[in-house]
Amino acid sequence: MLWKPLGHGLGLRREHNAEILGGAPGVDWLEILTENVMVAGGNPRRVLRAVRERYPVVLHGVSMSLGSIDTLDEQYLDTLAELVREVEPAWVSDHLCFARVDGKSVHDLWPIPYNEESLAHVADRVSRVQDRLGRRILVENVSSYVSYRASTMREEEFLAELARRADCGLVLDVNNVYVSAKNHGFSAEAYLDAIPVDRVGQFHLAGHSDCGTHLLDTHDNPVCDDVWALYARAVARFGRVSSMIERDGNIPALGELVAELDRARAIERDVLAEATRHAG
Ligand SMILES: [Fe+2]
Repeated sequence: MLWKPLGHGLGLRREHNAEILGGAPGVDWLEILTENVMVAGGNPRRVLRAVRERYPVVLHGVSMSLGSIDTLDEQYLDTLAELVREVEPAWVSDHLCFARVDGKSVHDLWPIPYNEESLAHVADRVSRVQDRLGRRILVENVSSYVSYRASTMREEEFLAELARRADCGLVLDVNNVYVSAKNHGFSAEAYLDAIPVDRVGQFHLAGHSDCGTHLLDTHDNPVCDDVWALYARAVARFGRVSSMIERDGNIPALGELVAELDRARAIERDVLAEATRHAG
């Protein structure tokens, strides 16, 4: 296994800093938003160092813009490489998307067309980032609301081939698969089945909002039952994989999120026990 299972973790949110630093039971590891800790001094970096003393951490970015046709941001990569040296995260991840156009950030994670040309482009960029950081990165599937006429392959085929060509890992965001499957009318189960088992290093779970005409990836409410069911299916396919919940709005008390982590633990335990029974 390329990526050691860390258990069940959370994205660090400042509302929970004090409790986390006090040693929160039920939180096995923390995902840190890379862009929050890129300045060398200051409080976010101080908190990160303190958190790192107690927990495994991973760095999750939104600015690498792997799918952009802008050149890679060398300054960003230099700063990230320095951060990685200091923090020694279990891994570094970012998204399959473009987040920059003509040097300007779009402050969002926009999907790219899936075809041979974009695959070669993104695989080259992932390889160059990995060379720079001296380690494999994990690339995450985004939720999307548009698709492109220029696409000639399915997103899951693209990710599978990207992982192979660039020799990178994947963050499988189970909620994003669900949201995009509903929005575009594809099978979330078939999506999971097309992702290579040995490339998935992490799962994301989150809540979304139903806007009637489409689902919106809002991260502001609990994980819904359908996404829990898809998580069970993911555990059945990919086994024990580090799992975490992303919550970015309506941040609840830490205990509420730990209760969701416990639900994830129970699902993982039951699914793996069932798999063992079938194997035996
Ligand atoms: Fe995610």
